[in-house]
Amino acid sequence: MSGRVDGKVALISGAARGQGRSHAVRLAAEGADIIALDVCADIESIHYPGPTEADLHETIRLVEELDRRVVAHVADVRRFDSVRAAVQDGVAELGRLDIVVANAGVMGFGQAWELTELEWQTMIDINLTGVWNTVRAAIPILIDQGAGGSIIMTSSAAGLAAIPHTAHYVAAKHGVVGLMRSLAVELASHRIRVNSVHPTTVDTEMINNQYLYTLLTGGDPHGTREAAMAALRAQNAFPIAAIDPLDVSNAVLYLASDDARFVTGTTLVVDAGALAPFKLPHA
Ligand SMILES: NC(=O)c1ccc[n+]([C@@H]2O[C@H](COP(=O)([O-])OP(=O)(O)OC[C@H]3O[C@@H](n4cnc5c(N)ncnc54)[C@H](O)[C@@H]3O)[C@@H](O)[C@H]2O)c1
Repeated sequence: MSGRVDGKVALISGAARGQGRSHAVRLAAEGADIIALDVCADIESIHYPGPTEADLHETIRLVEELDRRVVAHVADVRRFDSVRAAVQDGVAELGRLDIVVANAGVMGFGQAWELTELEWQTMIDINLTGVWNTVRAAIPILIDQGAGGSIIMTSSAAGLAAIPHTAHYVAAKHGVVGLMRSLAVELASHRIRVNSVHPTTVDTEMINNQYLYTLLTGGDPHGTREAAMAALRAQNAFPIAAIDPLDVSNAVLYLASDDARFVTGTTLVVDAGALAPFKLPHA
C-alpha cells in the first residue's frame, strides 16, 4: 500500500517526545524518512522537566520499527549552527528534504509585567527565533532541490487569541503566524508551501506536570491532574480537556501531503472548538 508521503524526507524539531515524536511516527507510517532533532535537556526558566536522550532514542526506535530510516541529533533550536549541522547531516544521509515541521517549543506562565527578562527572552528565543532557525536551515536546501516542499510551523490556539497569564507564549506564537505568512508569500514561486497548526491543549508532558497542576488549581502545591483537567475542559467547546498528539499529527500529515498541494499561508486549527468562540455551560 502506498503512503501519503512515500519517498519523502521530513525534518522535525522537538522530536524526542510529545507531538514531535507523534509527527515522526505518523509521517514514517505514511512512508517518510525522518530527520529528528531535540535539545534533550531541562531549560533554565522553564518549570517542568525536558526530555532525555533516551526519549529521543525511543523516537528512533519507533520510526525504525516502521522500516523507515531516521537520523537524529541533539540540537538546540536557539543555536543556528547546531540546527544547520543536524539538518545538513540528515540530508547527506537520507538524500533529500521535503517536509519541515518546526514543532519544538516550551511553555511558561506569569503576568505579562511580572515575567523575568530570562523567562521572556527564553520564550522568544525558542518559540519564535527557534522556528526561524529551523526553517532557515532548511529553506536553501528545499530551493536548491527545486522540487517544492511543505513547511509546517507549530503555533497554538494562543497564536490566534489571548490566553491570560502567558503573554510571552502568546506573543511568540502570534509571531510564528507572521513568519509563516511572510514565508508563504516569499516561497510560493518555489512551490514551497508554508502553513501553521494551532492546537488547543494537547495531552503531553508540557501539561502533565506538577507545575501546571498547581497553577490550574489556584496555587495548590498538591493540585491533581484530575483537577487541572477540569479547569482545562472549560477552555474547549467540546467537553474535553485535551486532544491527543495524534490529532495534531493528522493535521500535519495533511499539510505535508500532496492532498494540500495548493494550501499555503493557512492557520489550521485543531482546537475542539476553543476558538469558535463559544459560551457553553458545561455540566
Ligand atoms: N501541549 C499543549 O497543550 C500544546 C498546545 C498548543 C501548542 N503546543 C505546541 O506544540 C509544540 C510541541 O509541544 P508538546 O506538547 O509536544 O510538548 P513537549 O514538552 O512534550 O515537547 C516539546 C519538545 O520540544 C523540545 N524543545 C524545547 N526546547 C527546545 C530547544 N531549545 N531546542 C530543541 N528542542 C527543544 C523539548 O525538548 C520537547 O521534546 C510546542 O511548540 C508547543 O508550544 C502545545
